[in-house]
Amino acid sequence: MKILTAPSLFAANLLEIGAQVKRACDSGADILHFDIMDGVYVPNISIGFDVLKAVRSCTDLPIDAHMMTVCPEKYFERLAEYGADIVTVHSDIADTEKVRFMLTDIHSYGMMAAVALKPGVPAQEVFPFLDLADMVLVMTVEPGFSGQAFMDMTEKIQKIKQQIGKEAVTIAVDGGITPKTAEMCAAAGANLFVVGSAAFGAPSMQAVLGDIRAAAQRAYQG
Ligand code: DX5
Ligand code: ZN
Repeated sequence: MKILTAPSLFAANLLEIGAQVKRACDSGADILHFDIMDGVYVPNISIGFDVLKAVRSCTDLPIDAHMMTVCPEKYFERLAEYGADIVTVHSDIADTEKVRFMLTDIHSYGMMAAVALKPGVPAQEVFPFLDLADMVLVMTVEPGFSGQAFMDMTEKIQKIKQQIGKEAVTIAVDGGITPKTAEMCAAAGANLFVVGSAAFGAPSMQAVLGDIRAAAQRAYQG
């Protein structure tokens, strides 16, 4: 699998979001990570649909809508209309059958579908979705805020990677990602790195993304 980086816009200076999107594109980002929160699933509220539309108008990069919301399915149609390319839903918002239905629904709008796991959710919880999901997002912080300390989820990543085997399912990590933590996660099997404060807080985002890519490439097996 290719090593990919995805700056998380939630960590950007929102007063200059257009310039920050451009900065991410110019710095070699592969995907833009777009956090949507409802104040219910997580104790915070972030950027929403109008911002997504504005961001879509100023970049061709794929956009991943990370839905930290209890009822993401209400919004799939709007996400598609506003230009999301990937929709990520959390595994613990509904029972297995409903989450599987959501993944199929996301695909029916022509978007890619991903399942996210909070730190407390074990690897096995994502296994029933691996035949449908394009990506698994392993949270390496409690969802809701940028700038938190990295939590080691390498064992969980290894278990998921083992279960995936040779299938083309991306394993992404989100939260506290730096070159050092990216290397640990890549060694365990992650290939997509969501980077918030380490990217937008750096003097050179290009250098940070380059360092993350290089560190991950060194450590990644297969
Ligand atoms: C947190 C979000 C992350 C966040 C990452 O709930 O899902 O995408 O913006 O920020 P950092 O990299 O600073 O932990
Ligand atoms: Zn996120």
